[in-house]
Amino acid sequence: MISMAPEISVDGRSLSDRLAALASIGEIEGTDGACRLALTDEDRAGRDLVVTWMQDLGLDISIDGIGNVIGTLAGATEGPPVMCGSHIDTVRTGGRYDGNLGVLAGLQVIEAVKQANITTRRPLAVGFFTDEEGSRFPPDMLGSLVYTGELPLEEALDIVGTDGATVGEELSRIGYRGSAPCPSPPPHAFIELHIEQGPILDTEGIVIGVVTGVQGISWAEITVAGQSNHAGTTPMNMRHDAGWAAARIAVFVHELAEKFGPPQVCTVGRVELHPNLVNVVASDAVLTVDMRNTNDNLLTEAENRLAAFLKELAAESDTEITSRCLARFAPVEFAPEMIDRVEQAAADLGLSHRQLCSGAGHDAQMFAPVCPTSMIFVPSWKGISHNPFEHTEPEHLEAGANVLARIMLDLAEIAETSKIEEAAGVQV
Ligand code: GLV
Ligand code: MN
Ligand code: MN
Repeated sequence: MISMAPEISVDGRSLSDRLAALASIGEIEGTDGACRLALTDEDRAGRDLVVTWMQDLGLDISIDGIGNVIGTLAGATEGPPVMCGSHIDTVRTGGRYDGNLGVLAGLQVIEAVKQANITTRRPLAVGFFTDEEGSRFPPDMLGSLVYTGELPLEEALDIVGTDGATVGEELSRIGYRGSAPCPSPPPHAFIELHIEQGPILDTEGIVIGVVTGVQGISWAEITVAGQSNHAGTTPMNMRHDAGWAAARIAVFVHELAEKFGPPQVCTVGRVELHPNLVNVVASDAVLTVDMRNTNDNLLTEAENRLAAFLKELAAESDTEITSRCLARFAPVEFAPEMIDRVEQAAADLGLSHRQLCSGAGHDAQMFAPVCPTSMIFVPSWKGISHNPFEHTEPEHLEAGANVLARIMLDLAEIAETSKIEEAAGVQV
């Protein structure tokens, strides 16, 4: 594949400055990280800042019914845009790069295109999608799920968060329940720049990850109902101990992942015990299980084994155990021609690169069924992410953004008028 795109370079310093400015909203003191859980006041303030930047670039801004925000730069022709984007919500212990990079790099690409006085044939768009993290309102990738028509808007608006608020109420409260239709017509193509969030690129000293797909994700919330009782007087064989059952579940899924071997991973990330007192047997436990695998059959097998274990455990611990699915996404493979574009753009720019599959969920995986899609990864220091100490070197941010620019320009094609101006040596 030969790139027809002219050389444009993004402003790496401006990208880092914008990442820092966004991270100052919801800043986690003493770190580079931020906490902007979806649809909170901090999320609203982050959104407002990015919208201001979109306005400064003169983009046409649309906000849809689930609060996805898309900024579009018109092309010489109408029609579906070449879109990039990601998310700006964070987990509670968020870093400054996860999601934010893909959005702010998109702004830099558009800024570079404007500064070079280039008109593309297709429009260029950059979006940020609501509640990608799903930590407050599961499932993850909620906004892109609705955008691409995989989940009806009404269903999404009714989702109740971990704090009892609903998506619809919170969207209205922060002023981001827009009127643009969703599902929305698919873009011409979608490309997402993101930090790897894992250790492969950093360990191997490679700058660009050419992302071939995303592994499958299964989230469940498990509730154990037992009976609270005195911790000193209740004989061990007379307990209905929800705390013990919760601990057994955590051990079971950990051992399951070890038994299956890589790439199976299993995590118990949230445990709540009631009444949560030192001298009381816990009456209730609510915990989450996150299981992922690139092989959907193996992921289903892991789910089945967990279900069977919960049945046995309920009998053994004399408790009632129920499980609710919070998210289930099959593994996704990106379009080969888009994977090739990432590989070629990295090669053209002289950047080291390798293919890899994403361990984390991303908005791009929701676009994969509706338009040609792929992702670009840049290294994460020591593979640390969902942690305020998440870090990516500025030169890697810039390299990833330049790969993004090249692919977007190639896909959008330079309009004839720009080519004529270029040929005539028009100064920009
Ligand atoms: C989303 O960011 C996930 O992978 O959990
Ligand atoms: Mn992310
Ligand atoms: Mn994340």
